[in-house]
Amino acid sequence: MSANKKEVIAWLSERKLMPSPELVSHISNHPEGIGLLERTVTSLTEPKLFLGISDLVEEEVLEPPKVIERKKVADIPPVIIERQIQKSMSDGKLESFVSLFNDRFKNLSKLVRRDPSMRDAIRDTSNLSPDEENKIIGMVADIQTFNNGRTRVTLEDRGGRINVMLQESSEENLNLIMDEVIGVSGKLSRQGNVLFVNSPIVRPHLGRYREVSRAEEPHIALFISDVHLGSGTFQEKEWDKFISWLNGDVDYHKEWIPNPGYLIIAGDAVDGIDSYPGQEADLSITDVWEQYAELSKSVNRIPTEIQTVIMPGNHDAVRLMEPQLPLPDKVVKNFGDNLTFTANPVLLDLAGVKTMCYHGKSLDDLVSLRDLSYDNPMGMMKELLKRRHLAPIYGAKTPLAPEKQDYMLIHDIPDIFVTGHVHSFGVEKYNGVLMINPGTWQSQTDYQKMMGFQPDPCRAVAVNLQTFDTQVLDFNF
Ligand SMILES: [Fe+2]
Ligand SMILES: [Fe+2]
Repeated sequence: MSANKKEVIAWLSERKLMPSPELVSHISNHPEGIGLLERTVTSLTEPKLFLGISDLVEEEVLEPPKVIERKKVADIPPVIIERQIQKSMSDGKLESFVSLFNDRFKNLSKLVRRDPSMRDAIRDTSNLSPDEENKIIGMVADIQTFNNGRTRVTLEDRGGRINVMLQESSEENLNLIMDEVIGVSGKLSRQGNVLFVNSPIVRPHLGRYREVSRAEEPHIALFISDVHLGSGTFQEKEWDKFISWLNGDVDYHKEWIPNPGYLIIAGDAVDGIDSYPGQEADLSITDVWEQYAELSKSVNRIPTEIQTVIMPGNHDAVRLMEPQLPLPDKVVKNFGDNLTFTANPVLLDLAGVKTMCYHGKSLDDLVSLRDLSYDNPMGMMKELLKRRHLAPIYGAKTPLAPEKQDYMLIHDIPDIFVTGHVHSFGVEKYNGVLMINPGTWQSQTDYQKMMGFQPDPCRAVAVNLQTFDTQVLDFNF
């Protein structure tokens, strides 16, 4: 009998319930596992002694994403929100975390299994064969590096945990992080408690189900991020020049003005308040609603033919936990019809081009990986794509909400992937994805000076959505 089945029986006997054998098998193979039993037992209307499959509550169907098509404001396709959190279902209960991690594991293990070498991976590590090669897929629950340079990883799946000794010289192993999902292949030790891996680890597959999408017309999308309006170091003069340029009033690369077209602001539109200790001293506007009122004044000067999207970041007036919900009505009502307020992250469809926008708080976690740094946002974005997850580490610097489904998953490989947050600029193509981090509109802060960090202010990245040609627009003049 597998450990899983024993666990199911023990859980039920603690509650003085006798299960049918079919129920035990069903639960031990079910992705929700004990979580499904918990929901069943709590919803029982009368005391029971025997429990069978027919007593199980309906499986919870995770809400499919609702596609929202925005109003058409110009002679171009309207902004379409393909995937984002609609409303928070987070109740802070343990079962919600279980459901969140089950959704993450289910989706990421499927993507690992798409690798030809992992197609026949077993689905339950409690059933490993003592003599043969075992292929398993698990979530990294612990990483230990020994003095001799070898790495031992604890992998977890529905069947339990297994210690895995990785190959000595595998380059990839060095950048393993907690909670990512990987596949390995190896043989069990004589005692049966360690799996010795003899080939490179396998990460979620990066293949596409579809070709890169292109717009039918040469529409332009413009990307900016981290405006930080309200900060004492917000570059107001350059920002005004940018708004004037959008109106055609500045003689500079006028062919790249997205009129009609799209403008995406990838989070931290304002500097906010209480984002860090002592922030008040660094602010030029100390009331967050006033910061948004000021922002609306300049944004309302943008021609209505430019469909503008504002996504929140960690400085904005929404919860810090990700996924973040769109800005509240109190803010939205001050903006025009050409504005779309989205959640963070969000998958947009811009004239057919799938554009994934994530503010990028988790880059604070990834920066500690080997060979990565704050001035290399492209390197960190690659690591996110490779793990098919926007915030792979739980419990570090990125607070994650216990939503029942995982909105941070990269379900499909996008055509464009945009982040902000780190205030450094980058544009690069990776695996057919155009990655962009447009930088910021805030000059070097005292804290950045102390840390020796040089931001890249006042830039926008324009993309021709038909040809994918890009142009960096620099408003430092
Ligand atoms: Fe920022
Ligand atoms: Fe940020």
